[in-house]
Amino acid sequence: MRTTRLPLADVLPVTAGVNEAGHLTLGGCDAVQLARDFGTPLYVFDEETLRGQCQAFLAAFRSRYPDSGVVYAAKAYLGRALAAIIAQEGLDLDVVSGGELAIARSVSFPAERILFHGNNKSEEELCEALDYGIGRVVIDNFHEIQLLNGLAQARRVRQKVLLRLSPGIDPHTHAHTTTGTLDSKFGIPLPTGQGEAAVRQAVSMPGLELVGLHVHLGSPVFELEPYAEAVDVVMEFAARLREQLGFELREFSPGGGFAVAYLPDKLPPSPDEYAETIVAGLVAACRKHGLPQPRLFVEPGRAIVARAGVALYTVGSSKDVPGLRRFVSVDGGMADNIRPAIYGSQYAALVADRAADPAEAEETVTVAGKYCESGDILLRDAELPPLSAGDILAMPAAGAYALAMAGNYNASLRPAIVLVKDGEAKLMRRRETYEDLTRHDLWPLE
Ligand SMILES: Cc1ncc(COP(=O)(O)O)c(C=O)c1O
Repeated sequence: MRTTRLPLADVLPVTAGVNEAGHLTLGGCDAVQLARDFGTPLYVFDEETLRGQCQAFLAAFRSRYPDSGVVYAAKAYLGRALAAIIAQEGLDLDVVSGGELAIARSVSFPAERILFHGNNKSEEELCEALDYGIGRVVIDNFHEIQLLNGLAQARRVRQKVLLRLSPGIDPHTHAHTTTGTLDSKFGIPLPTGQGEAAVRQAVSMPGLELVGLHVHLGSPVFELEPYAEAVDVVMEFAARLREQLGFELREFSPGGGFAVAYLPDKLPPSPDEYAETIVAGLVAACRKHGLPQPRLFVEPGRAIVARAGVALYTVGSSKDVPGLRRFVSVDGGMADNIRPAIYGSQYAALVADRAADPAEAEETVTVAGKYCESGDILLRDAELPPLSAGDILAMPAAGAYALAMAGNYNASLRPAIVLVKDGEAKLMRRRETYEDLTRHDLWPLE
């Protein structure tokens, strides 16, 4: 059942509603019942929202620029079921580690549709990628040009590669998630002349086939202008390369970083608006420089999975500091979602057992996690209905970079994840057990 009464409709999955009991529903499933059945903290992924975002990005780019692709950035969150869904939806996959590649391989994700990023890929990881026949490696630095060339030659293959450039563009994101500026560990600096030197080196390597150039500015980028600037800068560089080296740019990516709504009053551009800016800039730049139009691909991570995911927590203890603050603690926190602690990220929340009660008086509370860090605060000064122990608190837009960064701090158990659709909930990942915690930890020592 859909409803317009849900105050966080822009932030919740598209299937969110309220049932007769006044409970939040996700994918037709009662969120309070999900919490009872699977325990909390619980991460719920709505399949319709997930697949819808894949299709929205594909349509936004392909309708404007047929020779384009969408590559899901697995770092936002990857599990086997998600990898399978991404493959079914026709997206490619960007991995940044041997581990992410192993998950992709475990569901037979087509090798030629995988792209490997990272500023310090190990020799082992590159060998695994080459041996799987991976589609593209995005080279991040001079060391990698040499290393990958040697490994490819030893296998008598010519690996398709792109070079990741650091273009010197500030996308105005949190300093920890800005990558396009020169003072970044990622990419080969363009304005310093190192970009050109890297292209010269890469095209001379017999084990490498340089097919394109890549930039990623940072994340989440709420503005459109940085993308337009990135397209301009790279295409001007490509024009120079053609003139000086005869290098033909066949593929180009302005990366990912597309923003999502975490709060109902801060909405991002739509996939169409991002696509319009990027495609218009690319077409204009090709015309201006007389360049053939390259294949275009973008790499959204957050924008594919964030809105599909909702975290459910159970409220426990509370503490009033008169005249200062009311703390309400939940049974998760920084171990399953470290973003508020490390980036000051803001989320909204609603009470899943009283989701349709807008008349209820609100109070200002700070929602704390259960972990032994003062910084373990999920929501500061949130306006919520009065909370009591046993309530289920739902935190929308939790699908990206929460589970992917989750850990076992305080020897906590990483949460279960369920996929909901048409009133059915399927377990994607079971909750960890105490046995999982001790399995890799040896005693007595051998
Ligand atoms: C190269 C690259 N591509 C894509 C992404 C995905 O960013 P987002 O999840 O914000 O779309 C990242 C994020 O760090 C990245 O480094």
